[in-house]
Amino acid sequence: MAYSEKVMEHFANPRNVGEIPDADGVGEVGNPKCGDIMRMYIKVTGNVISDVKFKTFGCGAAIATSSMATEMVKGKTIEEALKLTNKAVMEALDGLPAVKVHCSVLAEQAIKSAVSDYYRKRGIDPTPIVGEIPECEEGACSL
Ligand code: FES
Repeated sequence: MAYSEKVMEHFANPRNVGEIPDADGVGEVGNPKCGDIMRMYIKVTGNVISDVKFKTFGCGAAIATSSMATEMVKGKTIEEALKLTNKAVMEALDGLPAVKVHCSVLAEQAIKSAVSDYYRKRGIDPTPIVGEIPECEEGACSL
């Protein structure tokens, strides 16, 4: 299966690339097998993700799924953002080849990791709310 036009479009023109220097939450996840890394920054106003940016060091699908995931959580509440699944990201991109499904999983986890960091910074244990996010293997997630 080739990449959909939407994947190619988000890969060529990714939305929300960059960093938020005074982010309320920063998440970083990586896949030790392919070595790709995603870092997400969120700004939270009230209970709403008012801004989100990402930096992805990875394959085209990782960039496209990061871009789509940020678009899907921007302006949403934290609770809504936590409901974002990799399946929804894939559907929004008109699908991904089977070998690239894990790239969309990384995008879902990156959002969850940023929200976890947001909770931690406020002294709240994120695990009961966000669930377990697979830890990066030693050295796999350092930029
Ligand atoms: Fe691993 Fe895309 S090949 S994130």
